Amino acid sequence: MSEIFSREWIVSHRTEMWLLILVAYLLQRNVNSGHMPTKAVDPEAFMNISEIIRHQGYPYEEYEVATEDGYILSLNRIPQGLVQLKKTGSRPVVLLQHGLLGDASNWISNLPNNSLGFILADAGYDVWLGNSRGNTWSRKHKTLTTDQDEFWAFSYDEMARFDLPAVINFILQKTSQEKIYYVGYSQGTTMGFIAFSAMPELAQKIKMYFALAPIATIKYAKSPGAKLLLLPHMMIKGLFGRKEFLHQNRILRQLLIYLCGQVIIDQICSNIMLLMGGFNSNNINMSRMNVYVGHTLAGTSVQNILHWSQAVNSGELRAFDWGSETKNLEKSNQFMVVTRRSLLGLKKEEEEEEEEEEWEWQ
Ligand SMILES: *[C@@H]1O[C@H](CO)[C@@H](O)[C@H](O)[C@H]1NC(C)=O
Ligand SMILES: *[C@@H]1O[C@H](CO)[C@@H](O)[C@H](O)[C@H]1NC(C)=O
Ligand SMILES: *[C@@H]1O[C@H](CO)[C@@H](O)[C@H](O)[C@H]1NC(C)=O
Repeated sequence: MSEIFSREWIVSHRTEMWLLILVAYLLQRNVNSGHMPTKAVDPEAFMNISEIIRHQGYPYEEYEVATEDGYILSLNRIPQGLVQLKKTGSRPVVLLQHGLLGDASNWISNLPNNSLGFILADAGYDVWLGNSRGNTWSRKHKTLTTDQDEFWAFSYDEMARFDLPAVINFILQKTSQEKIYYVGYSQGTTMGFIAFSAMPELAQKIKMYFALAPIATIKYAKSPGAKLLLLPHMMIKGLFGRKEFLHQNRILRQLLIYLCGQVIIDQICSNIMLLMGGFNSNNINMSRMNVYVGHTLAGTSVQNILHWSQAVNSGELRAFDWGSETKNLEKSNQFMVVTRRSLLGLKKEEEEEEEEEEWEWQ
């Protein structure tokens, strides 16, 4: 019995324990509120990105892109829309990059008339959907496996420095175009700010950069999700380990889809999602909750969460602090450290003012 509660056991069964707590909590609610009808599950909840695109009737393509540091990323494409356009010639190319804990499905999980990915395809764009390293679809590496700590030693620094150039160059080569449009959401904008300012030659390849819910600082973020980032780093590591943060394995996904399909529990699920992204329940189609939970919380590294935590504490946009000057220098390899001030051109006085701004955290 004592072995069950040993430190090693707890560490190695961390995910299961979280799962157990969740199930116990939900079951208890279930009992308290009598029986609960289950809503129908949309088939998209169980599909991968290509399958969702196909399910909505659009053409799809899927590629694997290797980064300079060996990660193999999954890249999706909607080469054209369903609306027939009179214009001929090559289509403008757009890359959509998701936010923290997201994946390419974030651009296509509503109906086609309400999903940016499909809307752009129908407007004549050649649409590409990125997947950051470590999420559900980008878990491969030339030499490392996801069981190794080294695989998870990355944060949005590496997504900016390696993922973005690899993906953008791949798209340019495939489409024989010189420039593309870039649309980032949340962490996808942070990647853009870092990459395009630190690598001007990469910025040259962007026709226009659209930053949705842009994040350069999260110092003033008020959402409960951001509060989690204020926990001491020892505690974050203790709770989540050193490798992955909130990845859904198959079993957990099916359980969530099932649970979030229950009337009443779907309210809890929507609240958890809103907790992370900011509250505006009008923007959520409750009937599609199962599709959202089937894909969102697509996972990232604990180190990425620690980097965001450093960002909350410092209030600045800067490179991940590896904990020692030597390691920092070795890792950054003169890769430019962009500070929030240089990026936003803020004056010192402005910065010192305690503004009550609402920063979304995602
Ligand atoms: C997605 O599903 C399609 C069709 O079932 C399959 O060909 C493809 O390999 C899958 N992609 C991923 C990344 O799992
Ligand atoms: C999209 O289509 C659905 C079903 O036809 C409709 O209920 C919804 O209002 C439409 N949304 C938009 C933004 O047009
Ligand atoms: C919400 O999702 C349901 C189920 O997929 C769909 O039938 C409905 O049209 C959607 N509503 C809107 C406004 O898009």
